[in-house]
This record gives sequence, C-alpha cells and structure tokens, in this order.
Amino acid sequence: MITAKASGKLYLAGEYAVVEKGNPAIIASVDKYVSVSITKTKNEGTLNSNRFTDSLIHWTRENDKFLIDSRDSQLEFIISAIHCAEIYAKQLGKKLSYYNIDVSSQLDSEDGKKFGLGSSAAVTVATIKALCKFYDLNVDNKIIFKLSALAHLKVQGNGSLGDIAASTYGGIIYYTSPDKNWIINTLKKEPLFNVIHKKWPDLTIQQIRLPIDSKLLIGWTGNPASTSILVEQISYSKSQKAKLYNEFLKKSKQCLELMLEGFLAGNLKLIQEQIKVNRNLLNSLSTFTDVLIETQKLTELCDIATTDNSAAKTSGAGGGDCGIVIAKDDPILIQNIIGKWKEKNIIQLKLNITDWS
Ligand code: PMV
Ligand code: MG
Repeated sequence: MITAKASGKLYLAGEYAVVEKGNPAIIASVDKYVSVSITKTKNEGTLNSNRFTDSLIHWTRENDKFLIDSRDSQLEFIISAIHCAEIYAKQLGKKLSYYNIDVSSQLDSEDGKKFGLGSSAAVTVATIKALCKFYDLNVDNKIIFKLSALAHLKVQGNGSLGDIAASTYGGIIYYTSPDKNWIINTLKKEPLFNVIHKKWPDLTIQQIRLPIDSKLLIGWTGNPASTSILVEQISYSKSQKAKLYNEFLKKSKQCLELMLEGFLAGNLKLIQEQIKVNRNLLNSLSTFTDVLIETQKLTELCDIATTDNSAAKTSGAGGGDCGIVIAKDDPILIQNIIGKWKEKNIIQLKLNITDWS
C-alpha cells in the first residue's frame, strides 16, 4: 500500500488580491491532513472517502434556477487529480493500472463542518502525491504543485491556487499567483507534460518563517462560507468599480511586500502593522463590493485580539470560518485573548505550522 498526505492551510494575508496574477499572499500550512492510500488491484478499482460531500452543500441560482455548487464536492477534485496524474504518467511512458484509493480527512470538525482549512486543495495535493508515488514518477515540489494546480483549476477555475502551494510546500510561503489564462491557453496547444515543465508566468513561491518571539493564534467562528461563491461575487463588481478595485490591488501588494520584509528581517512589529493594514484593506473591499467578508463574529474575534502586542484579521475568504492573530509570544497576553474569545463562543483551533516538506 502507498500513502501520501497533504496539510491544511490558513491565509495570513493577501486574500482576494492574490486571485489576480502576480499579486502576493502569505499562507501557512497547518498540521491537519488529508491522507490518500492506494492499493494495487486487478481489473477494477474502488474509490472510498470518509467525507465525499460536505455536511453543508452550497447552492446558488443561475437565471433563477437552483444550482448546487459542484466545486465544493471533494469527489470532483479527486477525479480531476487522478486524471492529471495519469495523463502525466502516461506521457512519461508508464502503463496505467487498477487500484483501490482511500481518502481520509482531518480537515473538518467531528460533525462535518468545514474549518476553512482548504480541504479541496489538500485532497488534490494528497491524491497527486500518492499517484506519483504509485507510478514511481520522479517529482519535486514544483511538479507536485503544478499537477495539483492544473487539477484544481479544472474544477474550481476562480481560485489563486495559493492553498495548493501551501499544502505542497508546508511551512509558511510568500506566494504570487500564476497567470491562469496563460496556463489554460498553453494547455490547449501543448501536452500536459510540456505545460508542467515550462516556467509559469508570475508564479513565485518563497519559503519564510515567523519571528521566534511570535505566536500564531487561530480562532474559529463557525458558519463556514463558500470561498468560490465569495470570490465570484467580488469579481462581479470588478469592472463596475475598476478604479477602487485596482487601488485595492496596488495597496494589497505594497502591504504584502512590507510584510515580507518583516518576515525576512524577523521584525514582528512590522508584520503586525501590515496585518492591521491588510484587515483595513479587506474591509474597504467589502464595503465597495457589498460582499460580507468580516462578519460580526469575526469582528469580535479581531477586536478582542488587537492590542499593542498583537494584530488580527480574517483568514481566507471570510464570511465566517477563521481569523488569525500574530501575537508576541507572551503567555499572559495569549491566555487573555483566548479567555475573552471563549466568552463570545469563539473557538481556538489548536493548530501548529508544519515543517517545510
Ligand atoms: O477561504 P479560504 O481559506 O479558502 O481562502 C480564500 C482566499 C481567497 O484569496 C479569497 C481566494 C483564493 O483562491 O486565493
Ligand atoms: Mg474559507
């Protein structure tokens, strides 16, 4: 039996802007995993998961028609990952075979609620990794990232793929997203193998660390929202509010570049300052697009955790889910925040940043 695992992730900064090519985000990989195991069989295979559908199935309307958002189903991502890995294996001259594939996830709560840790990305990366091992393909993190990104892109289409990068590389990364149009157009003209081995325009992945005197806290407010629907809603107002939107992109980039400087210099104060700036930028985006990012519970979470020695913001698409805090590693300060969260029914998720893989 072959097994592989990929971690969950949390955005620390740069959300929404990172969806546009070349724009940065900082993303942490956390120690909750999706595992995939593969056992060779003859003539037919099975596919088994402890959680194919989310307990909450998101739906929207298209021309008044009720529509289930299939982008939230893990099965779609597993199938797409299998397709990509097998096309790549075949182009390398491997003979395809049959297998049983088992997927198990720690990324949801006991009652099946999503914590917003990026289960679709982790399931995609874990499936790609397991199949690359199964077919004995010589792959590094860059190739695993690109194969997983192609698989994810085919299902979701509108994400930055930053969660894929975090799941693949582990630790904390400074990430700028690739030009998705270039990827899609190149895929139309050339075999997948060539696309994987070309340089992807605008993509950068740089591994960074939090300063040693700091601590990452994660709070969960429940009420998970659908990231792909929120991203779509933001993109509706993109053309109508082009000036404000471009201003948001510019300021987010400046903020993330300063934050990167803070990470590289181990300067906690600079990181915290820019976390506060990024929170404000996301709130302004929310105002001019009329999309709710920082819910009332997330505002409580952030306000409680914002002090002279700590900075907080929503993590990811918002609309519920998690907020993050970058605090001075001071037990009294931290206990104080967690205690006040408890009074407001905000749950601390005890997750650690993973090592680089
Ligand atoms: O909601 P999450 O944790 O999956 O994060 C989404 C982050 C966005 O920038 C809003 C979307 C993306 O694909 O990067
Ligand atoms: Mg989310």
